[in-house]
Amino acid sequence: MTAPPPLVELRVRSPRAAADAVAAHLWATGAQGIEERDLPDAPGDVLQVVWVADPFDVAAFERTLRAQVPAVQVHAALAPNTWGVAQVTPLGRAFAVGPPGAAPPPARQLIALTPGVGFGHDGQHPTTALAFAALEAALDHPAADPTARTLLDVGTGAGLLGLLGAARGLTVHAVDIDSTARATARANAALNGWPLQVSAAWPTAPVDLVVANIRADVLLGLLPRLMTTVAPNGRLILAGYRAPHQPTLDAHTPGWARGARTELDGWICETLRRP
Ligand SMILES: C[S@@+](CC[C@H](N)C(=O)[O-])C[C@H]1O[C@@H](n2cnc3c(N)ncnc32)[C@H](O)[C@@H]1O
Repeated sequence: MTAPPPLVELRVRSPRAAADAVAAHLWATGAQGIEERDLPDAPGDVLQVVWVADPFDVAAFERTLRAQVPAVQVHAALAPNTWGVAQVTPLGRAFAVGPPGAAPPPARQLIALTPGVGFGHDGQHPTTALAFAALEAALDHPAADPTARTLLDVGTGAGLLGLLGAARGLTVHAVDIDSTARATARANAALNGWPLQVSAAWPTAPVDLVVANIRADVLLGLLPRLMTTVAPNGRLILAGYRAPHQPTLDAHTPGWARGARTELDGWICETLRRP
C-alpha cells in the first residue's frame, strides 16, 4: 500500500451570503468535501475548509475566486500528514476509526480508513459523527426493524457510513458524484475486507435504509429521489444541514414518521420512516 499524496488545506472566509458562490468555486477546483464552519466572532461570515492535492496554485485560485467574490480571504497550509500515525478515534457506540492495523479501544470494532483522505476520513466532522450515530442506532435496534438488509449511502465520501452498514452485514450501495471519493471508498472497503458496491449510479430496487450526509441545497434537490428509493416502511437518515433548513425538509416529507432528531454544533440529523 502506498501513502496518499500530501494535501493542502484551504481555508476560505467569505460573507455568508457569498458562501454558495465560494462553494461552487471550491467544488470546481476539485475539492473532495467541504467543511463549513461558523465564526462565533463574525456571524455574518462563514469559513469553508477543503483539502486539495499538493502541489496547488493558491495564488491563481485566490485570483479567480476574488474576481467573483471580492471579500474572500484565503489561507493555505500543508495539511498534517497523518499517514502512519496510529491515531484511533472512538466513533458511535461500538466503533473506532483509525489507520489499518491500529488497535481499537476495548469493546470497539476498528473501521480502518486511509488516513487524511476524503471527507469523513476520521469521523470527526459533526455531520459525520451524527449520521454515524443515527445509522448505528437504526441498525442496532433489530427489534424495531428486523428486515433491514440493504443500505444506500448517498454521498459516501470516504465510505465511512457505508462501511458501518457492511460491518453489520448489510448489502451496501455507496454512491458519490466525485470520482476521487469513490476511489477512496473502494480503497477503504478493501482495507477492511468488507464488500461495498461503490458507484456513481443509484440502485434501481428499493432500499431498506438510506443515509445521506450532504450539504443542505444538494440534499433538498435529492430529496424526491431519496424518498422514492426508500422501501415502504424503510428509513431515511438525513444529515448535513442546519436548523434553519428543518422546516423546509419537514414540508417536503409529508406523511413520513419523524424518528430521532439529534444536533451537534448547530448541525442536525434526522431519521424518518416511510409510510
Ligand atoms: C459532507 S460529505 C459526506 C461524506 C460521508 N458520507 C460522511 O458522512 O462523512 C458529502 C459527499 O457527498 C458527495 N456529493 C455531493 N453531491 C452529491 C450528489 N448530488 N450525489 C451524490 N454525491 C454527492 C460529495 O462528493 C461528498 O463526498
